[in-house]
Amino acid sequence: MDDLLKLVENSKEEIKSFSSTEKNPAEAFRIRFLGTKGLIKSLMGEMKNISAENRKQMGLVLNDLKLLAEKKHEELVMMNAKGQPLIDKALDLTLPGDTLPLGSRHPISIVRNRIVSIFQRLGFGVAEGPEIEDDWHNFTALNLPENHPARDMQDTFYVSQNPAWMLRTHTSNVQVREMEKGKLPIRIICPGRVYRNETISARAHCFFHQVEGLYIANNVSFADLKQTLYFFVNEMFGEKIKIRFRPSYFPFTEPSAEMDISCLICGGEGCNVCKHTGWVEILGCGMVHPNVLENCRIDSNQYSGFAFGMGIERITMLKYQIKDLRLFSENDLRFLKQFTSAV
Ligand code: PHE
Repeated sequence: MDDLLKLVENSKEEIKSFSSTEKNPAEAFRIRFLGTKGLIKSLMGEMKNISAENRKQMGLVLNDLKLLAEKKHEELVMMNAKGQPLIDKALDLTLPGDTLPLGSRHPISIVRNRIVSIFQRLGFGVAEGPEIEDDWHNFTALNLPENHPARDMQDTFYVSQNPAWMLRTHTSNVQVREMEKGKLPIRIICPGRVYRNETISARAHCFFHQVEGLYIANNVSFADLKQTLYFFVNEMFGEKIKIRFRPSYFPFTEPSAEMDISCLICGGEGCNVCKHTGWVEILGCGMVHPNVLENCRIDSNQYSGFAFGMGIERITMLKYQIKDLRLFSENDLRFLKQFTSAV
């Protein structure tokens, strides 16, 4: 027993002061003390020669020794790792890097940018305005006085704290604000988000995006409007697409029209998308009503102009053959990732 305790004491000293000139001191230590043929194993082997009453105490002593050796081994391993050049273990600089997931533009943004750049080439500037609007800029100035039945065409969200405010139902409010500035001629497009109290379905949502356009100068005619929109459709959808204008009604334009393009899906033959007519509607337009010009302090005898407005969702659905408008606002990555390579 005493001999064994002496051996343990010596081993402790040796462990504490262990040093080695080997390439890997931690491994040399492990072999000497902790390996299957190491010192601690062989001391454990001596236990069988210890009397039963001393065995417990000896066990504790040997266990302490083992813990001491394991701690020292850990330290040596750490020192070893620090001493080695990093490239050896922790970091292989030759490995290819982790690929970062690339984001993609939202399809609505892609199409909006496209629309904006087409009109910019015709000299249109971009104007923006508030989404929370007063009655004057959203309705009254646009020849829609209070109680006008055409207000029902655009179900409106009012702000409950102040019913004089509403969420704009179209971006025409920006046109009014531009006209009120009194700087003529005006040639702008107004992209932005608009709100209507519509039941959400595959074809309608309570918010969506528009691009409206306004051109006011001397002698602007319906022919200018048509030519501008022909250019837009050819640039956006290609030259094979046919166009037609149908007479329509908007309070802020006179005459008014809606413009259809030949169906992109069936090429005009008739299919589900065009409800078997061969045509799909893409925008409303017309010559700015003289009352609107006068409301905005523009002399309607001297100036004339045209305006048009389209829904970006509609154009995007046609361009990418998307069947459900709700996909645009659901943030489903499986949908959004499909636009990674679109620009
Ligand atoms: N402001 C109309 C709408 O949102 C669109 C439009 C704009 C129609 C300009 C004609 C002229 O429905």
